[in-house]
Amino acid sequence: MSVSPNSEVRLLGTSEVVRNILADIDCAARSGAKVLITGETGVGKEVVARLIHHRSARAAGKLVTVNCAGLPDSLLESELFGHVRGSFTGAYRDKPGLLEMAPNGTVFLDEVGEMSARMQVVLLRFLETGEIQRIGADRSHTRVNVRLITATNRDLPKEIAAGNFREDLFFRLNVIRMTIPPLRERIEDVPLLFDHYLALYCEQHRVERPEISQAALDVLLGYRWPGNIRELRNVAERIALKSVGQILRPADLPSELLKPAQGAPLVAGAAAPTHSAQVEEMTQRMLRHGESFWSVVYPVFMARDLTRADLRRIVEIGLESTNGNYRLLVALYNMPNEDYKRFLGFLRKHNCHLPFQRFRTIPSRVSSGNVPRTPVAAAG
Ligand SMILES: Nc1ncnc2c1ncn2[C@@H]1O[C@H](COP(=O)(O)OP(=O)(O)OP(=O)(O)O)[C@@H](O)[C@H]1O
Ligand SMILES: [Mg+2]
Repeated sequence: MSVSPNSEVRLLGTSEVVRNILADIDCAARSGAKVLITGETGVGKEVVARLIHHRSARAAGKLVTVNCAGLPDSLLESELFGHVRGSFTGAYRDKPGLLEMAPNGTVFLDEVGEMSARMQVVLLRFLETGEIQRIGADRSHTRVNVRLITATNRDLPKEIAAGNFREDLFFRLNVIRMTIPPLRERIEDVPLLFDHYLALYCEQHRVERPEISQAALDVLLGYRWPGNIRELRNVAERIALKSVGQILRPADLPSELLKPAQGAPLVAGAAAPTHSAQVEEMTQRMLRHGESFWSVVYPVFMARDLTRADLRRIVEIGLESTNGNYRLLVALYNMPNEDYKRFLGFLRKHNCHLPFQRFRTIPSRVSSGNVPRTPVAAAG
């Protein structure tokens, strides 16, 4: 649990999604109603909860955050409601709960979807009466005036259907509902966010801030970001710690950003054409071990130990995961940015330059659902 000072919290982004979230925050801040915030991990649910509090009439009161995940029931109940002396081993004195510590403030219950069935009943009782009964007390101790904001990355209606979450509690919590979309649905915010956090961490670690090359930016824009903004923040910090020099290139980015989505086979779909063990080995070396196309494929092909069909297949495998983008393919196969022309020249010369258009329709990490297209230059 944490009690936050009224510290500066910011929700960065210029996308329509972020503008709508900011408008919803203001709307929620004007009302005193309970708010339920949902969304994938790392999308900014806690940031939103803090902003609602800080922009509300309760801003002068405290914001207390309690994470419901990972605490055994008895501890969570005691954290929230407090206990009386002697109510359990180790309860040496009366202790107030966190709900009492935020009079006229806000209590943010994070990961509320993880609450046990018993704790859900305890919370429901509190929501119905507003009364606090400390553990071990035989009657209610006091009433409190707090606003409740809850968050979860679970799909609560699904959890209700599965019998894991109480419907009556859901209706109590779900007064104002805010759903925060994942970062890949507002990919246009990535450059701003990345720039912000890169600057922050470079300053913090006292390293030179690199300029972000177009190819590196393309990789950032093409990635799915399953961990959302938290993941982006971590990537920025790793890069700052690596002190990459003046220019940030794709090769400086963590390898998972350059590879197909986790769990996805190197070759998408069961209908993918089969290929030789040699092709498999070569693509593995480039995709998994960071070796360059120039050292893995080029010399073998030039020595005529790799067929033209195999070279085409290698290009095809790469294009499948870059959505047909040749610039990204250069990065994917661990070549420096400047080699783009040389690489295309080589493929054209040997008649292995495949039209990129057909790969644009393959559902890949870049183009699932209504995810915006990566705004990159059309490949040669
Ligand atoms: N729009 C944003 N602008 C700047 N930073 C953001 C934004 N959204 C999130 N962050 C940052 O990303 C990180 C994750 O945000 P937060 O903790 O609010 O996510 P969450 O949705 O609560 O995640 P989880 O479900 O894992 O608890 C934090 O460091 C936060 O500061
Ligand atoms: Mg959170």
